[in-house]
Amino acid sequence: MKGLILAGGHGTRLRPLTFTGNKHMLPIANQPILFYGLKQFARAGIRDVAVILGPIHEEIRESVGDGSAFGLRVQYITQGEPKGLAHAVLCAREFLGEDSFVMYLGDNLLQEGVEQFLEIARTQRPDAVVGVTAVDRPSQFGIVEMAGGRIVSIEEKPATPKSRLALIGVYLFTPKIHEIIAHLAPSARGELEITEAIWKLVEGGGRVVPHPVTGWWKDTGRPEDLLEANELVLRTMPPDGFVRLGSVARGAAVTGPLGLGPGSVVEETVEITGPVVIGSGVRVGPGSRIGPGTAIGNGVTLLNAQVRRSIVMDGSQLEGPIRIANSLIGRNVRISSRHDGANELELTLGDSASLKL
Ligand code: G1P
Repeated sequence: MKGLILAGGHGTRLRPLTFTGNKHMLPIANQPILFYGLKQFARAGIRDVAVILGPIHEEIRESVGDGSAFGLRVQYITQGEPKGLAHAVLCAREFLGEDSFVMYLGDNLLQEGVEQFLEIARTQRPDAVVGVTAVDRPSQFGIVEMAGGRIVSIEEKPATPKSRLALIGVYLFTPKIHEIIAHLAPSARGELEITEAIWKLVEGGGRVVPHPVTGWWKDTGRPEDLLEANELVLRTMPPDGFVRLGSVARGAAVTGPLGLGPGSVVEETVEITGPVVIGSGVRVGPGSRIGPGTAIGNGVTLLNAQVRRSIVMDGSQLEGPIRIANSLIGRNVRISSRHDGANELELTLGDSASLKL
């Protein structure tokens, strides 16, 4: 069994973010989104993984390397232009050989991991397993229609969806899929669609097992999705995920789980309500109130700042009095305020933004 994780330019529908670098490296609970998929492969016993890259990839190669830190053997395949999910499989054809494989869209987060997919493949020997779940906005996903326990249609982002059952972006395929992909024509949006390949597999008599995923699943395309994913991961993180290496002043009040990286200081009068994770080299200065559901990256400075259900990325500085909630603050952002901080602000600020209030 091999693993394929897509970290290129797929998923063009919801990207109003102004962050530099690759979106798969945006942090959820202080870890790049991509790392979650890689760790789940490792946990399921998959060793050989190819990461499919688009035009922006330096950061991924640097941080994932040869994959040994994850217990994986990782290689990289450049897809270049995003020509669809099935095109990514085509690019990985040589790597995949005659093995079955799990394909994981790198910006997805799936609480249950991929073990169940492997278990279904082992016990039922289907031609494919597709993760599905009911969604609120079905016209933005690949939609599966079921009748009498069988798949009767699969459509990519249908204008009039026949069900709410969406493909979640985690699939297990046998090598049978390659022959189908080899004969696919680009769709109306100019892509080789994996959804169409799966439908052709069904039409040709192949057995495709829909696997309704348990636990939460998040496609992290929009700022609010990132915040929700951040909160979900923090709220479901086991206690040993919160390691406290930095120092907390005696006059600070901490309730709930707190992860605090090395060299970080939580000073007098600070109040922290977990779950909260704070990276390394962070100063949380007097008057600050952090959490719950909040992740603060490395090298951040917070002075007299109240931060609730937010993500603050590496190197940013917030000098209050300021109150923010449901906010996504990029890297190296500067915020200073001369106001009284009475109003709670909701901010989405890209990397290096500067705000004087
Ligand atoms: C892709 C797939 C779609 C699936 C979705 C899950 O869409 O094409 O079938 O439902 O991922 O996130 P994209 O995110 O590339 O628009």
